[in-house]
Amino acid sequence: MLPTKMPAGGPGLKVLHVAAEVYPLVKTGGLADVVAALPPAQALAGADVRLLLPGLPAILDAVQSARTVIDIGACFGALRVRLLLARLPGSQLPVYVVDAPHLYRRPGSPYQDSQGAEWTDNLQRFALLGWVAAHLAADDADPSWVPDIVHAHDWHAAMACAYMADHAPTQAASVFTVHNLAFQGLFPHHDWALLGLGSRFMSPSGLEFHGQLSFMKAGLKFADKVSTVSPNYAVEIATPEFGCGLDGVIRGRASDVSGILNGIDEAVWSPAQDAAIAARYDADRPDGKRACRTVLQKMMGLAPDESALILTVVSRLTSQKGLDLVLAALPALVRAGVQFAVQGTGEPALETAFRMAEQAYPGRVAVYIGYDETRAHQLIAGADVIAVPSRFEPCGLTQLYGLRYGTLPLVRRVGGLADTVQDAQPAAVDRVASGAAGQTGFAFDAATPAAFEACVQRALALKADAPAWRAVMQRGMAQDLSWAGPAHAYLALYQQALEARARSPRGLAG
Ligand code: ADP
Ligand code: GLC
Repeated sequence: MLPTKMPAGGPGLKVLHVAAEVYPLVKTGGLADVVAALPPAQALAGADVRLLLPGLPAILDAVQSARTVIDIGACFGALRVRLLLARLPGSQLPVYVVDAPHLYRRPGSPYQDSQGAEWTDNLQRFALLGWVAAHLAADDADPSWVPDIVHAHDWHAAMACAYMADHAPTQAASVFTVHNLAFQGLFPHHDWALLGLGSRFMSPSGLEFHGQLSFMKAGLKFADKVSTVSPNYAVEIATPEFGCGLDGVIRGRASDVSGILNGIDEAVWSPAQDAAIAARYDADRPDGKRACRTVLQKMMGLAPDESALILTVVSRLTSQKGLDLVLAALPALVRAGVQFAVQGTGEPALETAFRMAEQAYPGRVAVYIGYDETRAHQLIAGADVIAVPSRFEPCGLTQLYGLRYGTLPLVRRVGGLADTVQDAQPAAVDRVASGAAGQTGFAFDAATPAAFEACVQRALALKADAPAWRAVMQRGMAQDLSWAGPAHAYLALYQQALEARARSPRGLAG
């Protein structure tokens, strides 16, 4: 249940979330899940929350009761730009939508064309999004509602922070959340003139990044506070290993950077009320999980083997996710009695490699190349273990879904994975689950097939000890993974951002 305590920023603090995606309308990854669940959790905690989204077809088609707030006219190369105010289906939160047909009304991914190339006008598309946010913050777009806080998510929304800094009278404070530092929004230097920002912003202390323009830097340099999606990733991104070239910039903001762990949307991810799975279950009545397991084997074409350890992967197939480790360790693990149920889409080489593994091990390896929310629930409910062996992972949501569904997460000890999964050593497993604290899954360190394989071997060993397995599973299922805690943590961060802004608005000196 969400607490009713008022936000640290005071009752009715006006918060504008700016993002490029929101589940279930537009989703390429966990960002969409966060943008769908954090705002309603903050609204329940007493904040006055709205969203600002680009007018992508799936968004325009789905929002309800849309009306025009302001006709902006021509800008960023689009002839006709309007700001609409509507309601999000489901949460019914107010949502501003930037309707710019020339820039946003096109099919496919929000970021790429059907060939996987970045849209060539992404600079204009996402500069416009930030520019509209800054106008809302400056009280010259919607006189009936002016945000106290603009919360920009990832590089797509980061320009809001620069445009706000360029307009000194703006009262609102800005918070920038890094969901993934690897995607930075880099553009050619010569496109600078398209942004309509003061030329002083085009310097190394502004947006300039090794001769290019960096939207990510707009957020990192000009937001009043910077956050990322786990405490551990907040520490990692200040190092050359995880900083993607921006660790120096992040160290420069050290006192303003923090990490707040993501939650999960329990209305969507909860085995006790999940309509997508074969049988409902919870920590006290876990029997339904067995039915989900049997249905999963049938659905994926895995052999009906009661004793196998079913390991699932539900993931973007990209180098970030470390799935080459899974592929390399797979033959030995199949021999050891593991069944693999993999669902993902992404890099063609990884898709092909998983398809080949499926052909090589029929009945033991099953692969679904594609994106399917319902099947994701079925895999996560039916498997014994969910593997997330990422090279880096800002937070990760699927290991949290695994905890919720009694599917033990097996993760590499990086980023948010290290913050959310406590390793269970079979020799030292606490066989009595009392509460949520303690061992909840499996973790390994080295990004090598051998380390991954050894970790799965430990899972196999634990599976042979049913009471110990059950204790680990029950501890994970008992954890509070809801958005209530993180929603309050962000509200406290907003208060700090307002105080920081009142002390000294961010300019180029910072
Ligand atoms: P990232 O955002 O880096 O991809 P997260 O773990 O934060 O990683 O979030 C991934 C989200 O995308 C989860 O909600 C996961 O269930 C979902 N997902 C990833 N791949 C697929 C797929 N092929 N089908 C359905 N859902 C998927
Ligand atoms: C990014 C990260 C992922 C995180 C998600 C939501 O896509 O890769 O780790 O969980 O954002 O914050």
